[in-house]
Amino acid sequence: MVVPATAVEVRSLDLVTRSAAATADVGAALVHGLRRGDIVLLTGGIGSGKTVLAKGVARGLGIEETVVSPSFLLHGIYRGRLTLNHFDFYRLNDPAEAAELGIEEAAESGVTLIEWGDRFPGLIEPPFLEIHFELGDGPDDRDLTFRFAGDEWWHRLPRLFAA
Ligand SMILES: Nc1ncnc2c1ncn2[C@@H]1O[C@H](COP(=O)(O)OP(=O)(O)OP(=O)(O)O)[C@@H](O)[C@H]1O
Ligand SMILES: [Mg+2]
Repeated sequence: MVVPATAVEVRSLDLVTRSAAATADVGAALVHGLRRGDIVLLTGGIGSGKTVLAKGVARGLGIEETVVSPSFLLHGIYRGRLTLNHFDFYRLNDPAEAAELGIEEAAESGVTLIEWGDRFPGLIEPPFLEIHFELGDGPDDRDLTFRFAGDEWWHRLPRLFAA
């Protein structure tokens, strides 16, 4: 028996990557499921791979400029097939600082990635995609958990990673 796709809602998806290149490739593939206005929170510890994935997203969008960690910049803007907004909440101390960044306005211009985007819970309202990174068993293994906050993500993304 097959359960109709409309009868179930998948809320998360787990992937393991075994190299930085693979994580970047996941970012590049993700672009095919992204639309203008989308917000993606990149969460997980220092060195877990958030910026590596962001660089892959930039490649997927045809951005030639080098994407750097936005820790000091706060808001990187890159022009590609869609504009890429790259934020980082790591250095912010309170939600008011994050609110001042004008994320919602910026988000309308393209695709928005926010490193440490879970730092101020509730600040970013659904719908959003969260990609959570954890170190895996081997030194170059990373466990990526995609959490779909809002109901339409599931229908867009899982097909991207089919063999
Ligand atoms: N499977 C993997 N995926 C991503 N990065 C990996 C992987 N294996 C090893 N690495 C290495 O881990 C590091 C990840 O660094 P990155 O700058 O992406 O982390 P980050 O999560 O953005 O950290 P920060 O919180 O400091 O911004 C890089 O040096 C990368 O080469
Ligand atoms: Mg980073």
